[in-house]
Amino acid sequence: MKNNALNTKWLKGFISNLLEKKSIDEVVETAKKSELKKTLSAFDLIILGIGAVVGTGIFTIIGSAIVGGPEGAGAGPAIILSMVLAAIASIFSALCYSEIAAMIPIAGSAYTYTYVTMGEFMAWLVGWILMLEYAIGNITIASAWSGYFAQFLKGFKHVLPDFITNFPIWLRNDFRSITIMCDKYGFDVHDKVPFLFDKIPFAINLPAIFIVVILTLILVKGVRESTRFAGVMVAINLFIISTFIVVGANYVQPENWTPFMPNGFSGVVMGAFLIFFAYIGFDAISTTAEETKNPQKDIPIGILGTLCICTVLYIGVALVLTGMVPYKLIDIQAPIAHAMHHVGKDWFAGFISAGAIAGLTSVLLVYQLGTVRILYAMSRDKFLPRNLRAVNRKTRVPNLLTWVCGLVVIIGSLFMDLNISAELCNFGTFTSFIIICIIVLILRKTDPDRKRPFKVPFVPLFPILGIVFCGGLIIFSLKTLKTSSVLFPIWIIIGVMIYFAYGYRAHRNKNQKR
Ligand code: ALA
Repeated sequence: MKNNALNTKWLKGFISNLLEKKSIDEVVETAKKSELKKTLSAFDLIILGIGAVVGTGIFTIIGSAIVGGPEGAGAGPAIILSMVLAAIASIFSALCYSEIAAMIPIAGSAYTYTYVTMGEFMAWLVGWILMLEYAIGNITIASAWSGYFAQFLKGFKHVLPDFITNFPIWLRNDFRSITIMCDKYGFDVHDKVPFLFDKIPFAINLPAIFIVVILTLILVKGVRESTRFAGVMVAINLFIISTFIVVGANYVQPENWTPFMPNGFSGVVMGAFLIFFAYIGFDAISTTAEETKNPQKDIPIGILGTLCICTVLYIGVALVLTGMVPYKLIDIQAPIAHAMHHVGKDWFAGFISAGAIAGLTSVLLVYQLGTVRILYAMSRDKFLPRNLRAVNRKTRVPNLLTWVCGLVVIIGSLFMDLNISAELCNFGTFTSFIIICIIVLILRKTDPDRKRPFKVPFVPLFPILGIVFCGGLIIFSLKTLKTSSVLFPIWIIIGVMIYFAYGYRAHRNKNQKR
């Protein structure tokens, strides 16, 4: 009897610990006292948003979303429908992000919002899932960067030696990507990759490692230098994309748009799942809430403005790309630059590669910054070791954490190809978007009187539609994708294990010391 009573008491205590929340007032007070400078306007937020959003999705993944891959059919010219589907899934979550970020303007994004509504266990899990979006997403972006860098070097084939402009495939790819390419073009992988002891394939993505090291060096110099750098990259990026649409429109042959839906509706949905990668990143705007002049008004404008501008640009690119090149011939590594080669405009392909490199660099930078910010917030709550967040006195940057994040991307780029990392990143982001929609529903019930400078219209319908669209795309893809659908639950299980092995206890120790 006594044992039973003890067990029940322990269980109740354990569950109440898992559900322990931070109070919104406490969080809002912390934000008010924030030492961060409030300098950002709505316009700055849109620039930052575009810097975080326009990158790998539109420059690279669009190719696989159109053509398809070993694990799923492509959308063909109906990629435009896939884009609309992905934009719809994003818009409901964007509205929900806007409501919460304007109401609780604090850095930390979905991790902090979950902490105030669902308690510490779910907050940890969301933080861990956000790592899929940010850290694993960065592996995708670094691989895409490498692809465009190789294209860019090819543009100098008459000026530079061959070993630079055409360096071996095993020095610029992971092994899985090389195998897929060899299958596609009918090569023997043994001719393309060295094997150690005749057994272990050796492939290393050197350009990806190079760019991650350079960006980590920039990031440890300080955050101001980093955002300035991102602004310049965004300007180049937008210029290149708009020029592609205008110039490429002259080479469109409408017959390339038929058949419009070669793989039926399932191709369109699979395309939507993949191209969703192109839309993510607007949520990074919510992490700058403490540095925004008028967060209540500017954050919703920043988030929704970014999404609208990107959707229009993307549909323009998709129409032109699928009109220029028959869909089966679209390249999956550097589709936009390749389209220009296809119509004989080699110099323009080099120009596009330079722009893509700029765009991908800015996304990589914003994402690594985001990874560090979220892990820093989690470590401040004692869910991760304290040493990790040690800040350099002069630059105020958590150097160790920044380098650890860079190292994770480098190691990941050795083992994961672009599509697998993008799919994993999408699974993570869809999940965090669903949680944001749920949080809006919870807070409308539990805290109906709190001032909401921006309100999602038609609640509960819109958040529910967000859950249905994001959830529907997850369920559809889990059935189709074989590798990432296994890795995703494994990632979650590892997260739960780390929480119970370290975070849960470390967090309690902090509470005892208080
Ligand atoms: N949306 C970002 C990109 O496409 C993550 O690179």
